[in-house]
Amino acid sequence: MFNTKIAGLGYYLPETVVSNDELTQYMDTTDEWIQERTGIKERRYAIKHEETTTTMGAIAAQRAIDDAGIDKSEVDFIIFATLSPDYFFPGCGVLVQRELGITDQEVGALDIRNQCSGFLYGLSVADQFVKTGMYKNVLLVGSEMHSMGLDFHTRGRNVTVIFGDGAGAAILQPTEDESKGILTTHLHANGTNAEELAMITPGSHGGHHLGKEKFGFPSESDPGGIYITQKMIDDHLIYPNMNGPLVFKTAVKKFPEVITEALKKVGKNPGDIDMLIPHQANLRIAQFVQRILGLKDEQVYNNIQKYGNTTAASVPIALTEARDEGKISEGDLVCLAAFGSGFTWGSALIRW
Ligand code: UT7
Repeated sequence: MFNTKIAGLGYYLPETVVSNDELTQYMDTTDEWIQERTGIKERRYAIKHEETTTTMGAIAAQRAIDDAGIDKSEVDFIIFATLSPDYFFPGCGVLVQRELGITDQEVGALDIRNQCSGFLYGLSVADQFVKTGMYKNVLLVGSEMHSMGLDFHTRGRNVTVIFGDGAGAAILQPTEDESKGILTTHLHANGTNAEELAMITPGSHGGHHLGKEKFGFPSESDPGGIYITQKMIDDHLIYPNMNGPLVFKTAVKKFPEVITEALKKVGKNPGDIDMLIPHQANLRIAQFVQRILGLKDEQVYNNIQKYGNTTAASVPIALTEARDEGKISEGDLVCLAAFGSGFTWGSALIRW
C-alpha cells in the first residue's frame, strides 16, 4: 500500500468581478446585508455562452498537471465534481477529458454529485485508487458555473448572493513515504433534508416527493412523461432553493464533528492543525467552526470574501491559494472539510 500525496494544484477564476452593489440592480439586497450575513464582498462570473463548468475545469486541470510536472497524457483517471454540469448527461468527466485533448488514452472518468462536499468525496475516492496502486496520476477537478442558473430576482436573493463561479483541480499520486500525504478521509451523508438545499427541477421526480400538483403533473403537454413542465417555469421552480437557517445550523454542528473525527483517527487535537481549509460556504460558518474548535486565525484559511461560495471548487481554490501564499509548508498538518446539499459532509487530514 502507498500513501496518496497531492502532487499538483491549480485553479481558475473568471475575470469578471461582480460586487455586492452590482447585485442590487437585480434584487432587493444591500452590500451591508451580504457582508454582515456571509462575509462576501464580491464573486466572479464566467462569460456566458463562452465559458462553461468544463472549460473552467480544464484550465484548472492543466494548471494542476503543470504544477505536478507531468504531461497530461500521464493522467490515468479523472474525477469531476460539480452541481452545475454542462449537460444533464453525460457528466463533465468525459467533457474535460475531451477539452484537455486526452481522449486517446481512454482513461476512466467518474462524475461526483456531492455538491459542496464534492471535492472531499472525490479526494477520498482518489485516495482509495492511488493507495492500492491502481492509478498513478488521478486528476480531480471541482468546478462550478453557478451564474448560469441563479434566480436574479428578489425571490432568489438568499441563494443568489452567495454563489460564484470558479474551478480548482489536483493531481493525486502515490508516495512510499508513509509519513506524508492523505492520512485519513471521512465521508457522511443524511438524506432527511435532501430538498432543503436543492435544485430539483428539471428532474425525474414527477412531483413524487413533494406533491404532483405543485409541479404541474400529470402534464397535458406530454402525458408520456417529462422532466420539466410549463408550471415549473411559470412558478420559478427551476432555480436552486435553500433553507438557509437549517443549513447554517446543521453545518456548524457537522463541520466540527467531522474534523474532530479525523483528528481522533490519527491521535491529534485541533491545536495540531497547521491549516484548516473549510469549504467556503459562509464566513460566519467558518468563524463559528473556528471558535468551537478553538483555532487561531492563522490556522484557518478563508477567501469567500473575494469569490463567494464556489461549491465543489471552493476547497481546491482555497488550498491552492493558501499554498501559493506560503501558508502551507512541507510537514504541515492540513485539514480539509466540507458540508453541503444532501446533506453531505466530509473531512480529510493531509501531512504536506
Ligand atoms: O455551501 C453550503 C450551503 N450553503 C450554506 O452553507 C448557507 C447556509 N446559510 C446561510 O449562510 C444563511 O442562512 C444565509 C446567508 C443564506 C441567510 O442568512 P440568514 O441570517 O439565515 O437569513 P434568513 O434566511 O433567516 O433571512 C432573514 C431575512 C429575511 O427577511 P425577513 O423575513 O426577516 O423580512 C430574508 O428575506 O433576510 C432576508 N434576506 C435578505 N435580505 C437582503 C434573505 N436574503 C437576503 C439578501 N438581502 N440577499
